[in-house]
Amino acid sequence: MRRRNEIVHGFSKKTRDEKLELVTSFHENSEEALSIFKSFHHLDGETQKLIEEFSENTITSFPLPYSICPNMLINGKAYMVPMVVEESSVVAAAANSAKFWFDKGGFKTEVLGTEKIGQVHFLWTDDKDKLLSKFSELKERLIADTSEITENMVKRGGGIMDIELKDLSDLEPGLMQLYATFETVDSMGANFINSCLEQFASSFKAWHSEQADFKEDGLEVLMSILSNFTPNCKVRCTLETTIDQLDGAVKGMTGKEFARRFRLGVRVAEVDPNRATTHNKGIMNGVDSVVLATGNDFRAVEACSHTYASHTGRYTSLSHCEIDGDIFRFYLEIPFALGVVGGLTNLHPLVKLSLELLDYPSAEELMGIAAAIGLANNYSAVKNLVTVGIQQGHMKMHLLNILKQLGVPEVHKDFVVNHFKDKVVSVSSVRNLAEKNGFI
Ligand code: MEV
Repeated sequence: MRRRNEIVHGFSKKTRDEKLELVTSFHENSEEALSIFKSFHHLDGETQKLIEEFSENTITSFPLPYSICPNMLINGKAYMVPMVVEESSVVAAAANSAKFWFDKGGFKTEVLGTEKIGQVHFLWTDDKDKLLSKFSELKERLIADTSEITENMVKRGGGIMDIELKDLSDLEPGLMQLYATFETVDSMGANFINSCLEQFASSFKAWHSEQADFKEDGLEVLMSILSNFTPNCKVRCTLETTIDQLDGAVKGMTGKEFARRFRLGVRVAEVDPNRATTHNKGIMNGVDSVVLATGNDFRAVEACSHTYASHTGRYTSLSHCEIDGDIFRFYLEIPFALGVVGGLTNLHPLVKLSLELLDYPSAEELMGIAAAIGLANNYSAVKNLVTVGIQQGHMKMHLLNILKQLGVPEVHKDFVVNHFKDKVVSVSSVRNLAEKNGFI
């Protein structure tokens, strides 16, 4: 195995197979590593090439399970929701919730806004009032100069909604920004927004140099970029039923007692940031899996959701629970920007199938679906936490991974699963059983 602290020149210029050869020369068993990497190449060379070109320096593909959550009733429409996630129990948890809530009206979603944000950050060392007094003239110029970029988006019902001037000079001397809002309809809009912003920046500089009464060096543009924080591109998803409908939710517990404990479980996440982080992670288990399956940017969704969870100045739960007389209400409000056109959506063969399976949703509909799966996962997690605990279900699912990890042959799987039906699962308890019975 080679371990060198030398810079590698020209890696990106190599062919895929040259890259593979170089990379596997760093492995203990180069031949075996090469064969494993190659075994994940798509059989169809065209598809493999397509996937390789999504990124750079690609040497193979990294498969993740593509699963389905059936029975998701959202706004009266039943969906089979594709979920891409590697963690055991996430899909089972969503599917259990979906089934439970199906005959109780299912998930109700409402998009509360679709506004996206972008900023041009700049330093202004001239008289601020001069800029303020001419801002409407500048704004007109910025909008006119981007007309070619916005033409198509305007035809689809979107475009630039507004441009404001924001003053941050109390935080950093001279710091100001053009704060623009956009409607990007069915696209996530990152490229559109960034192109508009870069045009704003060059038009701003050109306009500035034409102003005879402005200091020549009074403007320094720093950067132009969208904000992944989109608090006004937000969806609410709600589960609601009468408390007597919860009687069957947990064996041996009345609906009333379950609802009381459930609300308190959510309350803990509202008041304690430590719990809120894990609680929200459980929501993102579901949200991200839909975001990935539909070719959207899960890093953007994560960044936005967690910023939103702290927008009051204190990190808190994204979901809330109310008991209103005999009504149990559990809801989630979450902002994120999703697209169903552009990006990977027209390219990745599995993303295309995901969108077809979801009946070609609009971006707004997809926001509702992702939020509903997030709430479904959150419901299952909190339900288990305040009743039987999380490990029982988790470890049962994890048992299959442990069996694989220990190399227990498939024929013994049912025996082991049956044995652990009423016992605590751990790696050592599974190993002991497998060794005792000669399975490994
Ligand atoms: C595990 O991936 C997610 C949970 O920890 C979420 C939660 O605690 O609410 C089960």
